[in-house]
Amino acid sequence: MARSTRDLGKIVAYQIYIKSFCDSDGDGIGDLPGITSKLDYLASLGIDYVWITPFFPSPQRDNGYDVSDYCAVDPVYGTMDDFDELVREARARGLGIMLDMVLCHTSVEHAWFQRALAGDERYQRFYILRDGRGSAGPGDPGEPPSNWQCAFGGSAWQWEPRLGKWYLHMHDVSQPDLDWTNPEVRDALVDVVRSWRDRGVAGFRFDVVNLISKPEVFEDAPGGNGRRVVADGPHVHEYLQELVERAGIGDMLTVGEMASTTLEDCVRYTAPASRELNMVFNFHHLKVDYRGGNKWELMDPDIARLREVFQTWGEGMQAGGGWNALFWCNHDQPRIVSRLGDETVYWKESAKMLAGMIHFMRGTPYIYQGEEIGMLNAHYPSIGQYRDVESLNYYQILLDQGKTEKEALETLAARSRDNSRTPMQWNGERYGGFSEAAPWLPMSARFRKEITVEAQQKDKDSILAFYKKLIAMRKMYPVIAEGEISFLETGTDRVLAYQRKLGEQQIVVFCNLDGEKHTVKADGAWRGDPVLLENYEARQMDPEGETYTMEPYEFMVLGKV
Ligand code: GLC
Repeated sequence: MARSTRDLGKIVAYQIYIKSFCDSDGDGIGDLPGITSKLDYLASLGIDYVWITPFFPSPQRDNGYDVSDYCAVDPVYGTMDDFDELVREARARGLGIMLDMVLCHTSVEHAWFQRALAGDERYQRFYILRDGRGSAGPGDPGEPPSNWQCAFGGSAWQWEPRLGKWYLHMHDVSQPDLDWTNPEVRDALVDVVRSWRDRGVAGFRFDVVNLISKPEVFEDAPGGNGRRVVADGPHVHEYLQELVERAGIGDMLTVGEMASTTLEDCVRYTAPASRELNMVFNFHHLKVDYRGGNKWELMDPDIARLREVFQTWGEGMQAGGGWNALFWCNHDQPRIVSRLGDETVYWKESAKMLAGMIHFMRGTPYIYQGEEIGMLNAHYPSIGQYRDVESLNYYQILLDQGKTEKEALETLAARSRDNSRTPMQWNGERYGGFSEAAPWLPMSARFRKEITVEAQQKDKDSILAFYKKLIAMRKMYPVIAEGEISFLETGTDRVLAYQRKLGEQQIVVFCNLDGEKHTVKADGAWRGDPVLLENYEARQMDPEGETYTMEPYEFMVLGKV
């Protein structure tokens, strides 16, 4: 792989959820020209790459992650000319466009699936079709081939009378999984990726790409957790190498979304010698508030566990020569300030602390639209405001499990993917400057003037200004881009601390994840280093002191750079 640790460590990427970023034509849905109109803003952040979520034709059951044509633009988002213009204008500002490739499954409306339904056996071999258990013969479904549950609730198998088989869908029933063991499928997907490369994109994010290689035998999984038995399957590394090589994208920026993955596999996905991907998203740090590992059971975040996960992945990827994508937020996760920070008194402090916490780690940071201004969860009061297929399905599942409507809504308020999908808050107008028309998804109930780009651009102490500093520091100081990471003991679970080192340069980062003060042990090795960045004003660590008392959500970086 052409990229060195130094290159990857200097990069910062920004994720755009196209549907909610900027609407240029007044239909309440964001679009490609809307993104182009905001390129100056994106460039002003100092970022390098812009990942745009899928804008391909799609019935939008899963907001574009159900693709019906990989090589076109959905008219609701614009035209191919709009796309070319976006790429050109981005390039002119030094920004690379990254596309989101959903190659694990298609939409049922994709021509391949439609041909399969029409009886074309060649295309039936594009999907994963099986007979039912205990079926008496053709036409009798029997039972689903395994007990796997799909990501959005219910069986991962759907009986399709036109096929006389069950098809596998690890996500929504409208998203049949492709059969990557079929070389024709792999050829077709290589062509897709190559065609976008040839249009001038600079990188790719691969959606749930560690689910492409299914196990050889489809056995029941403990608790129906099919995702766990499918993740990091037998041929996944081989398929990725093949895709990267044949599509000719080895020198482009690549990141894989890895569901229920292992450290060992992620080292392999990203170690340069494997010639697979530059970096990976894993989600283990975002499960520390799932009771018993269940997203739909609320629990206070386990901060000791959070530290453990960051340590394991930070130090472990480093030891194996792998590379992490660093992130808190994306279009599937609730807003991080609502989740681990404070929405009211310490809104600003906690947003900055959380930002700083991951931006100084070893890896490549991704900022999700609105995170840079501290946007908050949606706090919708009624189910009628939700749009996300997963949220709507789980609302019903929670009611079926005996939860009251109030409880089910509380769970969605904390966990729904719509929390991060509310329209971008550009200014204080009714629809946040996102659109003139009522948006496809209502604004966050926590939308207020301070949480807008316009207000924060005028304030030197804003969250936005802090993000710009973080990005600039990563480019300025090699120790942030390349330094070794190791985690420190602070004597309290609520304060997470780590060190980065590169030759003589070193920094130490302290993050108080609590709304209370906490006292940490100060270590002689760095005590007395100057403060490089903080989220409170003019705080100092006493060079002689044995301890340091941190304010609520305080963040401090000390160092010699
Ligand atoms: C990924 C996407 C998510 C989508 C799913 C199925 O996890 O980020 O939004 O629903 O894949 O494509």
